[in-house]
Amino acid sequence: MDLYEYQARDLFEKYEVPVLAGIVADTPEEVKAAAEKLGGVVVVKAQVKVGGRGKAGGVKVAKSPDEAYQAAQAILGLDIKGHVVKRVMVAAGANIDREFYFSVLLDRSNRSYLAMSSVEGGMEIEQLAVEKPEALARIEVDPLTGIDEAKAIEIAKAANFPEELVSKVANVFVKLYDVYKGEDATLVEVNPLVLTGEGDVIALDGKVSLDENASEVRHPEHEELEDKGAADPLEAKAKAAGLNYVKLDGQVGIIGNGAGLVMSTLDVTAYAGENHGGVKPANFLDIGGGANAQVMASGLDVILGDEQVKSVFVNVFGGITSCVAVAEGIVKALEILGDAASKPLVVRLDGNQVEEGRAILAKANHPLVTLAAGMDEGADKAAELANA
Ligand SMILES: Nc1ncnc2c1ncn2[C@@H]1O[C@H](COP(=O)(O)OP(=O)(O)O)[C@@H](O)[C@H]1O
Ligand SMILES: [Mg+2]
Repeated sequence: MDLYEYQARDLFEKYEVPVLAGIVADTPEEVKAAAEKLGGVVVVKAQVKVGGRGKAGGVKVAKSPDEAYQAAQAILGLDIKGHVVKRVMVAAGANIDREFYFSVLLDRSNRSYLAMSSVEGGMEIEQLAVEKPEALARIEVDPLTGIDEAKAIEIAKAANFPEELVSKVANVFVKLYDVYKGEDATLVEVNPLVLTGEGDVIALDGKVSLDENASEVRHPEHEELEDKGAADPLEAKAKAAGLNYVKLDGQVGIIGNGAGLVMSTLDVTAYAGENHGGVKPANFLDIGGGANAQVMASGLDVILGDEQVKSVFVNVFGGITSCVAVAEGIVKALEILGDAASKPLVVRLDGNQVEEGRAILAKANHPLVTLAAGMDEGADKAAELANA
């Protein structure tokens, strides 16, 4: 889960990383009040989960509360790379002398952590990495020892910080690592980390990604950081039902068991759709191993709630869960849903107890259900029905 800048700022503060005061606001009036409260020069910053806000006009300096009001009018509603700004943070203005870069992240390919730092911060790090790779220090961090003072000094020296700044920035690196470790993050990035005219080192922009695998047990408090309003309502419903669902843009709802089978089902359905008006899969939904009636009903309920869906393709391979259980699940799910089940269903079953499973569906003879013998045939039928 990626956090907004203001949420990262709050976490930084909790770990004593030096940050500036910041107040979130949703209207120009609130921004003006916040600027009055902070006093002096402020910076109005778009809160969207995408980088490059500054270049896109989403970060504006304001010398007075009235200027802050105007800046808010310009920023709220702005579309930054497809993210519409609904909220801003009014931050105290920093007197910037120099801009640096620091990040620590989970380096999956090396089964380790990686710290990166540069005295050339501010610009996008992807660009720096390509254009001036020598200016970006990359230091592996052993997860068992982390970034202690010695490691932090090693990073600062590798990044070519001037001697007199090394211990100051190293101190901040250690605290940023405390955030990374303490919150079970997979990324903590500060760009820019600045040196002010007063000689202070401050984290001016923060990006934090939290490991969702740690949320439930280790960090129940992270749930509050989730932006539920921004989530797709169908995805939120699926999540609440414990389903693995991703909404896509097509017309054929897909239900399968096992991520690999579902991915292949998306492919064959998209391929079949080429012969039927270009219809496409409407979602990814993996109902996993236990394809029982309740899971099937929840899955169908989510998919049928998608107005774009015109037909549904259920593609299940009976393994540990036999086709009998799956077929019974489908029949019961249709009973549970009643009139809510209103779109044609193509069902392809194979694997463990396939004959018995098909017999159950044939006997139920539900008007919406069509049985398909194979995967390609099922995809073709579902695409045809979606295009009808
Ligand atoms: N509180 C602040 N005071 C002064 N300048 C700021 C402040 N916050 C950001 N800036 C300036 O705006 C630039 C872009 O802001 P930043 O928060 O890094 O957004 P983004 O990375 O999305 O463009 C920074 O590099 C910095 O020069
Ligand atoms: Mg930045």
